[in-house]
Amino acid sequence: MHAKIVLLPGDGIGPEIITQGQRVLETVAQKFGHQFDFASAMIGGCAIDETGDPLPEDTVKLCQDSAAILLGAVGGPKWDDPNAKTRPEKGLLGIRKALDLFANLRPIQCHPQLISASPLRQDIIDGTDILFVRELTGGIYFGDSGRSTTDGVESATQSMVYSVPEVERVVRIAGEAARKRRGKVTSVDKANVLEPSRLWRSVAERVMREEFPELEYEVVLVDAMAMHLLSRPRDFDVVVTGNMFGDILTDEASMLPGSLGLLPSASVGASGPGLYEPIHGSAPDIAGQNIANPLATILASAMLLRHSLELGEEATAIETAVSKVLDNGLRTRDIAAGGDAVSTTEMGEAVVNELNAA
Ligand code: IPM
Ligand code: MG
Repeated sequence: MHAKIVLLPGDGIGPEIITQGQRVLETVAQKFGHQFDFASAMIGGCAIDETGDPLPEDTVKLCQDSAAILLGAVGGPKWDDPNAKTRPEKGLLGIRKALDLFANLRPIQCHPQLISASPLRQDIIDGTDILFVRELTGGIYFGDSGRSTTDGVESATQSMVYSVPEVERVVRIAGEAARKRRGKVTSVDKANVLEPSRLWRSVAERVMREEFPELEYEVVLVDAMAMHLLSRPRDFDVVVTGNMFGDILTDEASMLPGSLGLLPSASVGASGPGLYEPIHGSAPDIAGQNIANPLATILASAMLLRHSLELGEEATAIETAVSKVLDNGLRTRDIAAGGDAVSTTEMGEAVVNELNAA
């Protein structure tokens, strides 16, 4: 296999963790006889500093012309001024939209070795294995927004819009994923209050009934879901929801395995390159210190191999190597529970060594 992979390191800890992700991909290439050509481009705050634009046109072109993209993180206090002309996050939303990456897959699995890293009780989280499918290019994130002043009172608005095809396509991704898993789909909405949620609910129900009649299907309101995630996370298999609900629920769900530093995500469309990134942000407080956990990015590179390059065996090799490294007791600071911690590079090195030893 000969594939072009674009690296978008971004801001904060992004460059450090992307370096480790690339190392792991290079190791896989060597071991399995593939050739990956890497190209780096700018996104987020560093791109604003350099070009004034969080998503330069060159970056979009490079991505469009690739097999897959591995992204670090964007943002930081330097670019947080609410009155700034543009923001790093706009780059991330822009690349999702430009590549039509409408489905964001966020698997939440509890690594048994790390159960003590979770703030929740072991008997609650044991065996949790959820795949979130978050709609990523619509909803309130992309609705019209604006400000106005009436009688000297300023107000702001942002609208939430979902169309029937937007709901259909993301629900199909959830149904197809559930077929390969435990056969259950939970759709999360706020249909008791929001009109777009009522549309979402009726479309989701129809797609599930007509196209996935063999699957178990349920509907849960988003506020109740926030609660059930903490009280009975094992009951969920595939969870499909809109853009903002998915953003919030997946941060909450990340506390089930204990650390954001372990969770990868994949953003995919109907065709073309997928975008793979850790769920966590740019962690500016620890940037440049070589202490960030690179495992989420390394696991994202495994998702990249599986979903965009159809290299399932290679993806599993990475996941197994990560699991072994955790078995061996290696921990970065975020999951060390106060014990000895290794650096970002040491963790990457350990995964590379496990891959080579396998
Ligand atoms: C995420 C992040 C982004 C989002 C931000 C950085 C724009 O929180 O990927 O979950 O809200 O989608
Ligand atoms: Mg988020």
